[in-house]
Parts: sequence; C-alpha cells; structure tokens
Amino acid sequence: MEECKCELKKTATQAVSGVGSANAEMVFIGEAPGKSEDKQGEPFVGAAGKFLNEMLGLINLKREDIYITNIVKYRPPDNRDPLPEEKAECREWLLEELKIISPKLIIFLGRHAMNNFFPDLQISQAHGKMLIKKFNGMSTKYFFPLYHPAAALYDGSMREVLIGDFKKIPKVLKEVEKREKN
Ligand code: URA
Repeated sequence: MEECKCELKKTATQAVSGVGSANAEMVFIGEAPGKSEDKQGEPFVGAAGKFLNEMLGLINLKREDIYITNIVKYRPPDNRDPLPEEKAECREWLLEELKIISPKLIIFLGRHAMNNFFPDLQISQAHGKMLIKKFNGMSTKYFFPLYHPAAALYDGSMREVLIGDFKKIPKVLKEVEKREKN
C-alpha cells in the first residue's frame, strides 16, 4: 500500500489503513482516525464506529461484509479537520485501496469524504441520493453520501435522517446492479 507522506505522521501513533473484505461490494469512507482509532490502528472503533455497527445491523450487514477506510490515514492533532494538503497526500493510498477492492458502490460518511470526490456538493443537499460519475483510473462510478455518524450521534434529527438514508443502502445497491446489467 502506498505510504502517505503527510506531516500527521509525526504526531499520530500509527497509520490506520482500511479494514474489511477484499471482496466487499461496498466501501465506506470516513474522514480521519480519532483517538480510539489512533490507539487501536483500526478505523471506526470508537463511539461513531459503534453507531455505524448498529446501522449496519439494521440492514443485516456485518463489518466483515464491507470494507471501511478513511480519506486521511493518520489522526489529526486534537481531531481537527484534516487540511487540504493532508487529504491530497493520503489520496494515492485511498485510490489504491479502491482499486484493489473495486466495489460496486462507495458510501461517503460525511462531507469530508464526499468533498474529496465532489468538491462542489453540500452534504445537507446531497445526502441520501445516489451520485454517478466516472473518475480517471477508478472502476467504481456509483456513490452514496451520508451524514457522518459522529455528527449525527448526539443530534436527534440528524440521527433520524442518517438512519433513514442508511436503510436505503440495499435498494441503492440493487439499483447499481440493475444499471450495470443493462
Ligand atoms: N471518524 C472517522 O471519520 N473515521 C474514523 O475512523 C473514526 C471516526
């Protein structure tokens, strides 16, 4: 896997690469590791990860069925937003993961992940709607943006919206399969 050269390497405990099935139909992309992820070396193992696991359960999926990763592979100090150059430096690594897994559908967890591919979209407008776009060097062209589980964790109305969007995932995947057959 391509190593990221970003400055975050100096302050993070370790790199947090993606985990999950190499044959996953779906790749979930978050923002960056937090404190628990930095300690354990695995994405989404803290509070947001627990919420994510609950939502996966609602659609009868387990973590082992999917692949989950982040746009930035090292924890930003004090969980600040990753800087544009940090996102850019980790991009090769992410693209390599996507190339290996070659999923049918990419699910963005939050605006940072979505804006990495669709810089002009607002998550408040784009969440819960499938996006189709062909990118150079990427086989996957179907994307589904969601609110970030950490943002929705303690916000009742956003939480409801996220759960509602999450439940659409099986239908979205079927739609992708239908389009790819035609
Ligand atoms: N939030 C993220 O975006 N990624 C993680 O791995 C954990 C929390």
